[in-house]
Amino acid sequence: MHREHATSHVGRYGRRRTKLDNRLRTPKVGAPPPGANESRMKLDRRFCIAPMMDWTDRHCRFFHRLLTRRALIYTEMITSGAVLHGDRARLLAYDMAEHPVALQLGSCDPWQLEQCARIAEDFGYDEVNLNIGCPSERVQEGRFGACLMAEPALVGDCVAAMTAAVDLPITVKCRIGIDDQDPEEALEALTCAGERAGVAALIVHARKAWLEGLSPRENRDIPPLDYARVYRLKAAHPGLCVVLNGGIADLDQALAHCARLDGVMMGRAAYQEPWRLLAVDPVLFDEPARFSSAKSAAEALIPYIERELARGTRLHAVARHVLGLFRGVPGARAFRRHLATEAIKPTAGADTFRAALALIADVDARSVAAA
Ligand SMILES: Cc1cc2nc3c(=O)[nH]c(=O)nc-3n(C[C@H](O)[C@H](O)[C@H](O)COP(=O)(O)O)c2cc1C
Repeated sequence: MHREHATSHVGRYGRRRTKLDNRLRTPKVGAPPPGANESRMKLDRRFCIAPMMDWTDRHCRFFHRLLTRRALIYTEMITSGAVLHGDRARLLAYDMAEHPVALQLGSCDPWQLEQCARIAEDFGYDEVNLNIGCPSERVQEGRFGACLMAEPALVGDCVAAMTAAVDLPITVKCRIGIDDQDPEEALEALTCAGERAGVAALIVHARKAWLEGLSPRENRDIPPLDYARVYRLKAAHPGLCVVLNGGIADLDQALAHCARLDGVMMGRAAYQEPWRLLAVDPVLFDEPARFSSAKSAAEALIPYIERELARGTRLHAVARHVLGLFRGVPGARAFRRHLATEAIKPTAGADTFRAALALIADVDARSVAAA
């Protein structure tokens, strides 16, 4: 009995959980309803919205959730150090409406990741994802992100530490390789290490990252996409959930990839043209769209805006994510201009957003059918 109790408090690395570790845990704040644990393990990853730093903050995620019930939504990357030593309540805050929502972590430290996974579970996140794709200099200095493509054994240790600590699915978002790595070998080695450690899904940005000479932005465009490598990965690992990311521009492309893989992850197209998300539920899940038009979805955001303004949030912090919603629709430019000039004023309120919406033609070309 005594031994059982002790075992449950000894981490995979043989390190007994201390009182400090227990203090690092938080009371459950966003725990999903009973029964959610089983459904979490079966999270549907057919359509995911990518983690994007400074873009997919909690306001953006709430807005995206209005456009699709079924997409799996990811937070921006948060480093394990920030979770453990920063303003955790603010960094990990999210709205219950966001479920299913995955927390993306950046780190190469199995022990820190183990603690963070526990904290994520306490906060009620549905998945923890490890970032093995970011090529920024700052991330390289911390020896995590894309440079971990060269250290599959360490990635395995990181994943194993988290899978042993929590019931949440632990996933990895990676590249097909870095620098002069051979993508056949590099991705295979990472996949095998992940599988051995119990990874629940691999999300593959289907291009290499070049760690020297390219900025993070260039690393999202210049290294060529290689979807065939990801298809081969799935064929070689049929039991592993493989999600494709990179350059997916519309739902036709998403559907085509879904015929060969377990799912897709859309980044820039989802953020810059969020109206496309209205068609995710009908096209990929055969379920009705939440709203028949982008305008009605935007109107449904107003109560959230009012709530956030009452908490001291500036209108711009929410409205900036909506700027692309009406791209190509009559009135879209006036809508954007109005928000760009008015929503940034400290006194801007929900009426500013309503006034911008009034500039959009009622016949909304961005209907579900258009995506
Ligand atoms: C502004 C921005 C920030 C990003 N931040 C992250 C991040 O925090 N974590 C991550 O794994 N990828 C990040 N990415 C990469 C995206 O998740 C995605 O892999 C990349 O944009 C390719 O997908 P796409 O072609 O559909 O945009 C970011 C991309 C953008 C545009």
